[in-house]
Amino acid sequence: MDMLERIEQAAQAISKLGEPEVAVVLGSGLSEVLPLEGVRSLSFGEVPGFPVPTVAGHAGRVEVGKIGAREVLVQRGRIHYYEGYDLSEVVIPVRAYALLGVKSLVITNASGGIAAGLHPGDLVLISDHINMLGANPLRGPNLERLGPRFPDMTQAYDPKLRAHAREVAARLGIELKEGVYLATMGPSYETPAEIRAFQRLGADLVGMSTVPEVIAARHAGLRVLGLSCVTNYAAGLAGEPLSHEEVIETTRRKAAELSKLLTALVPQL
Ligand code: HPA
Repeated sequence: MDMLERIEQAAQAISKLGEPEVAVVLGSGLSEVLPLEGVRSLSFGEVPGFPVPTVAGHAGRVEVGKIGAREVLVQRGRIHYYEGYDLSEVVIPVRAYALLGVKSLVITNASGGIAAGLHPGDLVLISDHINMLGANPLRGPNLERLGPRFPDMTQAYDPKLRAHAREVAARLGIELKEGVYLATMGPSYETPAEIRAFQRLGADLVGMSTVPEVIAARHAGLRVLGLSCVTNYAAGLAGEPLSHEEVIETTRRKAAELSKLLTALVPQL
């Protein structure tokens, strides 16, 4: 089966849950935020065409349900490049949502803070990204049905959606910072020398996800809002070793606040 058929199959299966116009991808430690009402769901393993989960069927779940009057798709958990998939597989979910008729994508992640002024627990609007994966999910034959061969990336993170997010956050008394996200392949964390290099390149945040999905989303014409939870100081900045436990612990601490922000924001997108 070719890639377009896989994506079409996935979209077809998800369309049985509903036909939402907004989708939210929830990353590491954040997968339980944003509860929906009247939920219908499929595990990744149940969506034909989706990449097969590597670890104990825990790759994720796609839910469709309501926040107030608005129908929303929520993807709980995601697939990472470091798990061994091709980038073209990592972006199957987002491309399926595009075929389903989704127009706006909210994408969340956990990140290490590089910029001075960023601290663990900060919520940051992603203003732009730097792709240090050494690969691009659009490599290979272009899927004309989804978008153009050479998609523009000058406003990858929609300025209007960002302005809207800032307004909603201010109304709720939630502090939102803003910064450039740099994606590495992982799964090892960065070295202090890499972090110093990334700092000079203009990165404020570092993580192992998001960039492939955003490239695929922009290719398909979706508007993107990116939200990052800083879970730790990037390598070498605090003099402490990095741990996945710290990442998960910080996201858990911020889950309620992020859920409140998303619940107010998402139905208006
Ligand atoms: N580096 C890469 N990915 C991450 C980090 C980090 O410091 N924190 C959370 N995800």
